[in-house]
Amino acid sequence: MAASASKALAKCLLDRTPRLKHYLLDQYKLRSFQWKMSSLGKFFKKFRSPILFNNLDSLQLASKVFGVDRGSSVLYYYMQKFMERSEEHIQGRVLEVQESLFSRQFTHKDIQIDILHVEEGNPDATIVGDLTKASTLPENQFDCFICTSTFNHIFEIEKAIKTSHQLLKPGGVLIATMPCLAQIARYDMDRWGDYWRLTSKACEQLFTPVFGEGNVELITYGNVLAAITEFQGISTEELPNPKLLDEFQKDYEVMTGIIARKAL
Ligand SMILES: C[S@@+](CC[C@H](N)C(=O)[O-])C[C@H]1O[C@@H](n2cnc3c(N)ncnc32)[C@H](O)[C@@H]1O
Repeated sequence: MAASASKALAKCLLDRTPRLKHYLLDQYKLRSFQWKMSSLGKFFKKFRSPILFNNLDSLQLASKVFGVDRGSSVLYYYMQKFMERSEEHIQGRVLEVQESLFSRQFTHKDIQIDILHVEEGNPDATIVGDLTKASTLPENQFDCFICTSTFNHIFEIEKAIKTSHQLLKPGGVLIATMPCLAQIARYDMDRWGDYWRLTSKACEQLFTPVFGEGNVELITYGNVLAAITEFQGISTEELPNPKLLDEFQKDYEVMTGIIARKAL
């Protein structure tokens, strides 16, 4: 009795305030649409390839492209952490390879961005040059060179490191990343090649002779979970506890970040 009276009262009030009635109806439709969409999402998730960490009887991958078709890759997760840590060095005239993937995150610092590409045809490129051919690139021009996942794509890696040193102004900083436990990048392999997977020790021995003792800092990331996640192409968003990626296990180096300063 009381319920039907309050229903009638609510209907009467709503009929007198059509804007409120429309608002509430819209909200109801929106919530019901959102609920249906999330239920649909949950339903279709069942048909996505399952993540089976303990299936040793299958060659099935979650993704052939590092998980970027499912979310963010483990390498990107570590690169992002490394960039945040290196932020103080990203200033002035900044050069990045292929696109402004990381440098554009720091435009609030009034930086000037150039993009390097190895071949003609990249509309973002402001400089076309080959890191193995020093004469194709300028000297003493940049305060910072962001060179992520690139040295491993260059067979003559020592030459490329020397040219990256040449590009920097005295006091300028190279911010590079080197994958170690990581799948082959097929897109790059079919173009310029994918040659090297280097440990932190190899990075130290390659960069220190060029930049000088005391001018190279290495930060290495990875653990067994990160390595498996990377190889399987599972995205970081799919991990039950992504914070586990931050724990470092020294025998599972997934990526090393290199901060190398050119002496004054
Ligand atoms: C995996 S992409 C890395 C770029 C991107 N900034 C990133 O982190 O995703 C590899 C890059 O290496 C570059 N590369 C390959 N050989 C090169 C060379 N000899 N000189 C300069 N760049 C080269 C290619 O242009 C390509 O953009």
